[in-house]
Amino acid sequence: LERTLVIVKPDGYARGLTGEVLRRIEAKGYTLAALHVTTPDRERLAQHYAEHEGKPFYEPLVDFMASGPATFVIVEGHRAIEGFRALAGATDPTAALPGTIRGDLGRDWGLKVQQNIVHGSDSTESAEREIGIWFPDEVSALR
Ligand code: GTP
Ligand code: MG
Repeated sequence: LERTLVIVKPDGYARGLTGEVLRRIEAKGYTLAALHVTTPDRERLAQHYAEHEGKPFYEPLVDFMASGPATFVIVEGHRAIEGFRALAGATDPTAALPGTIRGDLGRDWGLKVQQNIVHGSDSTESAEREIGIWFPDEVSALR
């Protein structure tokens, strides 16, 4: 069974969209295997976003992600990684197609950061790495 790490980012949390995002995941048929709300610490954000270190949007991205509570979710199901990324839509919420989470619920707010409501792992390797960062007790869970 495939697992992916989904984050309802601080913009989604602040706008009260957590339930709507979880509803879409469940309506699609995936399982919520674990879930917690926390304001992410910079140390773990640096690990999570290591691939983007040095890019111009890296510091604003970490600042934004550390700015308030976010919901961390392990989502399970066959092809859940690909499936959630399809639900999420394109990274840029202005360009994301209507019907997707970002396309229906997101927009450009004129900030340096792309506030795009959700994160979803992009590969099985990323998913296991990211789950290890945010759910250290779940690393060897059933899959
Ligand atoms: P995630 O599911 O959040 O990982 O989104 P993604 O896989 O669609 O995007 P990616 O991993 O490439 O980038 C991670 C996050 O950095 C994005 O969700 C955006 O918030 C931000 N980001 C990525 N590319 C850009 C960019 O070109 N400009 C800005 N301002 N932010 C970016
Ligand atoms: Mg990504």
